[in-house]
Amino acid sequence: MRGFDLSGLVLNGSGTFDAIAARRTFGDELLEQFPFDVFVSKTITAEPRQGNPPPRLWETPGGLINSIGLPNKGLDGFLAADLPQLAELPVPLCVSVMGFTRDELAKLVAAVDQREEVAMFELNVSCPNVETGLIMGADPSETARVMERVRPLTDKPVIVKLTPNATNPAEVAVAAEGAGADAVSLVNTLKGMAFRPGTSEPWLGAGTGGVSGPAVRAIALQQVAAVSKRAEIPVIGMGGIASGAGAQDFLAAGAECVAVGTESFRDPAAGSRIRRELRGLRPKLEVTYLERGTRSG
Ligand code: FUM
Repeated sequence: MRGFDLSGLVLNGSGTFDAIAARRTFGDELLEQFPFDVFVSKTITAEPRQGNPPPRLWETPGGLINSIGLPNKGLDGFLAADLPQLAELPVPLCVSVMGFTRDELAKLVAAVDQREEVAMFELNVSCPNVETGLIMGADPSETARVMERVRPLTDKPVIVKLTPNATNPAEVAVAAEGAGADAVSLVNTLKGMAFRPGTSEPWLGAGTGGVSGPAVRAIALQQVAAVSKRAEIPVIGMGGIASGAGAQDFLAAGAECVAVGTESFRDPAAGSRIRRELRGLRPKLEVTYLERGTRSG
């Protein structure tokens, strides 16, 4: 990927590991035993956002529904307050960005691109928790237009984060690739909801949220396999990975590397454990699903 080898790495899912809070809690021990090979920031937007009204979380069998709503300090707050702290992490930094319009996204990418502390971008076109309800990445041509707008603004690698809520995620991946994406990652969360027990009132303040965790793993795995068959660029697989064996399944499906999300809420050191387990298992991965000759045009 544009001078950056992702193979076999373990990343975090954006927004699932707060490295700044973890540093406050664990001090420099966090830097010595950092659980990921690349750190992906919480998604930032041009303007500050409060996020969605509470409640924002609901535990579901084998998973979690979140309706966080992208709270963040906005571009200026991120550059002034968060970036200097994230730059101290011992691994490359990927900044996740989201815009409500292509111009807004372009402004973000152009500004963040100036900062040499930033190694790469994640274009989050897949958050289900914004008030417009619009998921840019649900539509291949809209995803291509977004990527085309951003591509001339940076020479850093750009990863497009795909939604599982698209009719055909592989079509979206191919569109992103055609427009210059360096990699795609999937899956973001699946749209879901829950009711306040015994009532007909939605539990989450925003009504709906995104489902993650082991409950979505089989769906994520199928989508990663389908995207890996069609896309030539690297695929970052995620969706309910909680063990090295789970991560290995994503590599077998054709992913170049994996990201750990919801499991880090349960165990902040999950990334290190999964990486250790995966490295113990990898030599056993002789041939992937793709290498068995299943890649198609
Ligand atoms: O609601 C959120 O902050 C989640 C964002 C995402 O799923 O990308």
